[in-house]
Amino acid sequence: MELKRAVGESLNNFKEHVEVVLAKAIADLESEQPAASVKDRVDLSLPGVIRPTGSHHLIRQVFQEVEDIFFSIGFSIVEGPEIETPYYNFEALNIPEFHPVRDDMDTFYLELPKGAPGPLLLRTHTSPVQIHTMEKRQPPVRVIVPGKVYRRDNPDATHSFMFHQVEGLAVDNDITFCDFKGTIDYFVRKFFGEAVKTRYRPSYFPFTEPSVEFDVSCIFCGGSGTAQSGGTCGKCKGAGWIELFGAGMVDPAVYGFVNYDPKKVSGFAFGMGIDRLAMLKYGIDDIQVFFQNDVRFLKQFP
Ligand code: PHE
Repeated sequence: MELKRAVGESLNNFKEHVEVVLAKAIADLESEQPAASVKDRVDLSLPGVIRPTGSHHLIRQVFQEVEDIFFSIGFSIVEGPEIETPYYNFEALNIPEFHPVRDDMDTFYLELPKGAPGPLLLRTHTSPVQIHTMEKRQPPVRVIVPGKVYRRDNPDATHSFMFHQVEGLAVDNDITFCDFKGTIDYFVRKFFGEAVKTRYRPSYFPFTEPSVEFDVSCIFCGGSGTAQSGGTCGKCKGAGWIELFGAGMVDPAVYGFVNYDPKKVSGFAFGMGIDRLAMLKYGIDDIQVFFQNDVRFLKQFP
């Protein structure tokens, strides 16, 4: 009871105080000549304060572009873990232990406390998310997977130990190589422009069959192989084509790992390097600039 009275009293005092201060402030404001006082206090001829605005990193912008294009043709976006088990990164993608492909994907393994279950690794590609997705969903599946991937590469103008990929996966009852080609061609025309031509060369990935490496006509010389100066185009080295990314029809062996019936379903998958796409589209010749956070670079892509 005592306490209640004391608190009530100080609250009342406080309220009165606020009322007095407010009343004075209102009276002051009302008595001022607004126009005159602003002019007195502010030099209107001074230049304004420029507040620099930030923007998305170019890599994020290119992710967004790619996502928008695939989203517009019915793909949804899924993500997966960057720390993986060898099962998802390799085995379930039909890459058994001692397969030579593992050498190309020089892998970072995590150092784990003694007794912890392992091994664990940093994913070397976004393809393990194909497996996660098919484990969770029944066909039809149509997803793209943006994300970071890691390889023990020495950094240089075209290599970085962390880079970005967008994986694509479409599986349904009757998906053909034609659907695959149509989808990729559509993407490339939207991304690089209608004039770009495409080319598919046979390649090899353990988790696709047939596999292709996919080229676009050189964006810099228009596919002629000749630079504007008349010399050989430095970007495609005169070939007129630039390698873009790997892809193919999902190998039936992969369906075995996710309990899909390979007799009933078919599909395609692709894995594109976002850093590479960004470098080609925006004429950047060193991948390292993406990671240096030099504002002079970043500012060029508002
Ligand atoms: N995962 C492959 C790589 O990183 C690319 C790829 C994805 C190829 C899907 C075919 C199908 O090199």
